[in-house]
Amino acid sequence: MLRIRVLHGPNLNLLGSREQSIYGSLSLDAVDSAITKLADELAVKVDLRQSNSEGELVTWIQEARSEYDGIIINPAAYTHTSVAIRDAIAAVGLPTVEVHLSNIHQREEFRHRSYVSGVAIGQISGLGSTGYLLALRGLHDHLIASRRGKNTPAQSRSRRTAKGRK
Ligand code: DQA
Repeated sequence: MLRIRVLHGPNLNLLGSREQSIYGSLSLDAVDSAITKLADELAVKVDLRQSNSEGELVTWIQEARSEYDGIIINPAAYTHTSVAIRDAIAAVGLPTVEVHLSNIHQREEFRHRSYVSGVAIGQISGLGSTGYLLALRGLHDHLIASRRGKNTPAQSRSRRTAKGRK
């Protein structure tokens, strides 16, 4: 059974009440229920966690190395500031998908830069809570393809990068 850790960063505990026009009206519990339902359908074991603390997120990423096959993370505001979260993802080397409810590229300039995207296999931004479900499907397919030794776009990309090509 595939095992995926899902991490929500700071202020995402306020989903449903926080800036609804940007982040939607679903609570974090409702988002997590939808993720769990799809995970059951895909026969994936998911572990869902939220923290307002950068250090706690780093620890959970590090711990995932031995217990999980991949990570889905919405680093929230830490996306734009945290070298520590980026380094943790790079260190564990687990396939990671970055999710944002809002389209960070359409918002303020300071949200356009993500420290995480360079170490993620992909980023989903702007599709609301559906983004988590797409991330789960995408990561599931990526992990299955990896197990079978097949190429996914992310794998071909990292192979090209390793050979020094863009
Ligand atoms: C967010 C976007 C971030 O810029 C912001 O700080 C968040 C949430 C999103 O899901 O759209 O807290 O990651």
